[in-house]
Amino acid sequence: MILELRKEDYMGYKLKNIMYAWLEVVEYILHIDLIKKNISNIDIYIYIIIFYIMKKIENLENSIKDIKKSNFENNKFDLSSCLSDCITDSLKLPDRYTHLHSGKVRETYQHPDDKNLLIMIATDRISTHDVVHYGLIPSKGEALTQISRFWFGTIDFLDTHMIADPERPSDFPDKLKNRTEIVKKLNPLPIEAIVRGYLYGSALKGYDSQTGKLSTSEFIGKGLQKCSKFNKAIFTPSTKSDEGDININYDNMEDYLYNFLLKEGFDNIDATELSEQIKKISINIYEKANKLANENGVVIGDTKFEFGLDSKGKLYLIDEILTPDSSRFWKIEGFVQGQEPESLDKQVIRDYVMEFWKKNPDKKGKPVVLPDNIIEKGGQNYKTIKELFYK
Ligand SMILES: Nc1ncnc2c1ncn2[C@@H]1O[C@H](COP(=O)(O)OP(=O)(O)O)[C@@H](O)[C@H]1O
Ligand SMILES: [Mg+2]
Repeated sequence: MILELRKEDYMGYKLKNIMYAWLEVVEYILHIDLIKKNISNIDIYIYIIIFYIMKKIENLENSIKDIKKSNFENNKFDLSSCLSDCITDSLKLPDRYTHLHSGKVRETYQHPDDKNLLIMIATDRISTHDVVHYGLIPSKGEALTQISRFWFGTIDFLDTHMIADPERPSDFPDKLKNRTEIVKKLNPLPIEAIVRGYLYGSALKGYDSQTGKLSTSEFIGKGLQKCSKFNKAIFTPSTKSDEGDININYDNMEDYLYNFLLKEGFDNIDATELSEQIKKISINIYEKANKLANENGVVIGDTKFEFGLDSKGKLYLIDEILTPDSSRFWKIEGFVQGQEPESLDKQVIRDYVMEFWKKNPDKKGKPVVLPDNIIEKGGQNYKTIKELFYK
């Protein structure tokens, strides 16, 4: 498994050491002190063991508190240090690969033999609400890579960053192969192109059923409820920033793109045309994908795309597409508008995190230690979706 060196392991390592130290103490007392001195009184014997076990539990508790305190409370969680821990261990590539970027989920390297290519490695990290949490879903990165590959392969009306059959450098580690994409290096647009077939998530949160408007003032219809299906999928862009994405309306998106094009020197591109193109393409991909998903017993509730430009200003679809990280997948069986759908994505993790933050308001927005059962449930969904589409 990848990324062995994580905070939990660090804690486990410390605790194990404390445990060994404690066992040594007990052994020392039992075998050397007690036995040597020939104390045969069973009561004393048991009493001493209990006393030391209690002492040990107390020590253990204090150690856990200390470690937790220093890792999770005192120090503001430093994503970059956690990520570099992770890289140090399993993701490290030979020195000639220049590391460019640690995202919430992916590590990006410059291709060592071609300056126009990137190497993107999908890790097993779990993020919700723009926060990376403590815990890894084994093989999640592989599932993400394979699911994306499947969908990229279905798109024939637009250029994508994916290279169908890339040749890997000979010194590229074999164990990372299935979680790695070699892609065209592009200039990512500063927006997320979100398409919704159903009312859920942040759109539902900001929806006013009286006025029929979203928080971004766009009218979508009055009296809708959770999971209401739109007659035609709607386009609800957001910003793309490290501080957390904000929903914006179509006109705001056009302004963002206008400023971006100006700043990056793409004088030949018209922001209005680019915005229309992005909206049209995004809805088109969503509708095709949702149709295919429906045939496989799954609804795609909503999804997010990213786009990038090459140096000539040509538009490409980039990043990952139609994965359980970027989309909501629901089981068709038992799906009823107005009710909570049975999700096959990371909703279970989002729900856990939201509940935890609700109960611990002082920890709101900070990384959460994900319990095993939640990781397992989430992990099962990535596997289910992978097996559905990537054969
Ligand atoms: N072809 C590409 N060229 C340049 N950047 C890309 C390309 N594809 C994806 N990216 C960027 O690489 C990053 C992928 O890592 P990820 O962990 O998903 O980051 P994030 O935390 O932004 O979601 C994203 O910021 C995405 O915009
Ligand atoms: Mg991402």
